[in-house]
Amino acid sequence: MVFLAGFRYASCLPALLLLLLVSAHTSTAASFMSPWLRDVPLVETSLVKRAQNTTTIPAPIVVAPSQYWDGIDGPWSSFALQVGTPAQNVRVQISTASTFTWTIYDGGCPPGYVADCANSRGFLFETNKSLTWTPNSIFNFDFEVNLNMDTTGNAGFDTATLGWQGAGGPTVSHSTIFSIKSSTYWLGGFGLNPRPTNFSTFVDPQPSFMQQLKTNNTIPSISYGYTAGNQYYQTPIFGSLVLGGYDQNRFTPTNVSFPFFTDISRDLLVRIHSISTNTSFNLASSNLLPSGPISAFVDSTVPTMWLPIDACEAFEAAFNLQYNEALNMYLVNDTLHQQLLATSAAITFTLTAGDGRTVPITLPYGAFDLTLHYPYITSPNTSYYFPLQRANNTQYTLGRAFLQEAYLIVDYERQNFTIAPCAYDNFNPSNADIRTILSPDTVLPNSRRSRFPTGAIAGVIVGIVILIAALAAILWFLRRRKHTEKRRVAELEAKEAGGAHADHSSENESKPFISNPIGGELGGGEIHELTAPHKPFAQEMESPHKIDPNKAGYSEMESGEYFGPGKGFAHEMHGSGPAVFEMPGSDVHEMPGHGEGHGLK
Ligand SMILES: *[C@@H]1O[C@H](CO)[C@@H](O)[C@H](O)[C@H]1NC(C)=O
Ligand SMILES: *[C@@H]1O[C@H](CO)[C@@H](O)[C@H](O)[C@H]1NC(C)=O
Ligand SMILES: *[C@@H]1O[C@H](CO)[C@@H](O)[C@H](O)[C@H]1NC(C)=O
Ligand SMILES: *[C@@H]1O[C@H](CO)[C@@H](O)[C@H](O)[C@H]1NC(C)=O
Ligand SMILES: *[C@@H]1O[C@H](CO)[C@@H](O)[C@H](O)[C@H]1NC(C)=O
Ligand SMILES: *[C@@H]1O[C@H](CO)[C@@H](O)[C@H](O)[C@H]1NC(C)=O
Ligand SMILES: *[C@@H]1O[C@H](CO)[C@@H](O)[C@H](O)[C@H]1NC(C)=O
Ligand SMILES: *[C@@H]1O[C@H](CO)[C@@H](O)[C@H](O)[C@H]1NC(C)=O
Ligand SMILES: *[C@@H]1O[C@H](CO)[C@@H](O)[C@H](O)[C@H]1NC(C)=O
Ligand SMILES: *[C@@H]1O[C@H](CO)[C@@H](O)[C@H](O)[C@H]1NC(C)=O
Repeated sequence: MVFLAGFRYASCLPALLLLLLVSAHTSTAASFMSPWLRDVPLVETSLVKRAQNTTTIPAPIVVAPSQYWDGIDGPWSSFALQVGTPAQNVRVQISTASTFTWTIYDGGCPPGYVADCANSRGFLFETNKSLTWTPNSIFNFDFEVNLNMDTTGNAGFDTATLGWQGAGGPTVSHSTIFSIKSSTYWLGGFGLNPRPTNFSTFVDPQPSFMQQLKTNNTIPSISYGYTAGNQYYQTPIFGSLVLGGYDQNRFTPTNVSFPFFTDISRDLLVRIHSISTNTSFNLASSNLLPSGPISAFVDSTVPTMWLPIDACEAFEAAFNLQYNEALNMYLVNDTLHQQLLATSAAITFTLTAGDGRTVPITLPYGAFDLTLHYPYITSPNTSYYFPLQRANNTQYTLGRAFLQEAYLIVDYERQNFTIAPCAYDNFNPSNADIRTILSPDTVLPNSRRSRFPTGAIAGVIVGIVILIAALAAILWFLRRRKHTEKRRVAELEAKEAGGAHADHSSENESKPFISNPIGGELGGGEIHELTAPHKPFAQEMESPHKIDPNKAGYSEMESGEYFGPGKGFAHEMHGSGPAVFEMPGSDVHEMPGHGEGHGLK
């Protein structure tokens, strides 16, 4: 009884401190008591977890290619997109420059235009058949203006999902979509640029698809890895797009990272140090950039390379190209086509980020062996062409042809990007090696080395200190009690007779310790409820931290969604209660290795 009474006081302090710690971590007393949290320490959970109102680290999204080769200036590997409700399937090109999506509507296929027009244009999105289409107004794209490739479309908003139906791709419910009929862009386009789109009809800028995916916590960061794919090797290689990460299997790493250009509409600006070829019809012209380095915008929207006139002339000399003034194109006739194929020439672009380090990107002639079709050319209505355009100094661009051999990784949150040479020797697309790009503000608890966050460690230490203090206090009480007893015994012995007064005083003195049963019970209860679980509680706090890199409030969790590697975004689980903790999974660091599992393939 004396022991318990002693604890009554000793345990108050740690209990209070623990409660303070609890509230310091945005949890509440209610959640502390909840069985949900109590179960946390029992399982060594290393899941990448998402709970309502908590931030988590979703896996990167691998967007599967459509498996079609499209375009009248290609062929190009396209991607599938579902738009509207019910979903209409279209095939689009990836546009690294665009902040929105555009699709073709039936005005883009007038009667008698092109046989199989709708299919050739990647199919039409009929806005009047979508229940969720919200029309805006007619606007200019307001991009590629410097290339004279701006066009006009019916702007609006609708649901857009990447990938074919049933593949479980990411959805954005209010995505900006332009519906066009112009043949400036033969296929629709999917914009990867996360800047908002501005309309005079709206005060607020309209958020991009990428921004909305991030806001919805569907991707780990506003970043992507992209390469256009090609079909000039023995096996055609489809394009590759990863949102929130990149595929390490696709390229040879470099040390070079480029900062974004200050003009954000030309953010992906690289310095081309030199362009050279190892085979030339004219030995004097292996240098294809005779007037020295230029800066060029990397842009998958357009197929061709836009280079200075003297560079174009060097290309003409090296490959016997003839400029078609009427079309502003380098058409290649069958004879020249055969000759060029026979040379097995390769052209190397040496890029530099300005610090002296360079990235060479070598393209075999096959990368430039492309075909134009009607309506880009008429009579003849098809021709080979070399994807090169004469440009002035506002127009230098490396288009999609370049991205057949270059892997582009863009990190909008760190404002930098990487261009690395694709690695297509012994390439196997099924060996995808998906790496995650985390937001810079992500706090990744190091789950293996230190499973306890600082707060929890502090809690444990404080708890131990308090426990020692409590023990010391108990000892002190015990000694005092013994001392009192001894003294009382001595007193009793001394005053053998007339002990009534002494007895009475001793009874009063010991009252708080002995004759208060409620106090004793409370003390015991407190010891059990608060002091004993304090160590597991430290783990309880650690768990939400691990899954909650931004330390958002996790006390209001109603349900949880869990991303286990290999399960993928398409397999989010909704549930509540302790059961969800029994799902297998591996930690954040292992996510990239399981990238294939997230794929839509
Ligand atoms: C999530 O947190 C926000 C504030 O951060 C709050 O307004 C909202 O009600 C919370 N939602 C739920 C479901 O707890
Ligand atoms: C949608 O509009 C096109 C003309 O632009 C028309 O031919 C078609 O019948 C319309 N469809 C519906 C379902 O209204
Ligand atoms: C967020 O993502 C989910 C799942 O992909 C989707 O159903 C929902 O529409 C998205 N929300 C918004 C606002 O786009
Ligand atoms: C739209 O306006 C915002 C500022 O309001 C700007 O940051 C953004 O770049 C603009 N978007 C485009 C595509 O110009
Ligand atoms: C990266 O840089 C380091 C030192 O700066 C160098 O040793 C290494 O070879 C470089 N790697 C590549 C792939 O360029
Ligand atoms: C093919 O084009 C080359 C130059 O590009 C030209 O010299 C040659 O005469 C052309 N051949 C035919 C058959 O038109
Ligand atoms: C040029 O380089 C390519 C690719 O490296 C190679 O296949 C080709 O044989 C080279 N040509 C000459 C003439 O060296
Ligand atoms: C292209 O021209 C050929 C014959 O000159 C014709 O048979 C074919 O239909 C034309 N194709 C298109 C798409 O106009
Ligand atoms: C570059 O060419 C475009 C298209 O021909 C033209 O509109 C623009 O004015 C030119 N810019 C300069 C600086 O010459
Ligand atoms: C961006 O910069 C960071 C820090 O220098 C670097 O680690 C990262 O690799 C860069 N990212 C890209 C895509 O270049």
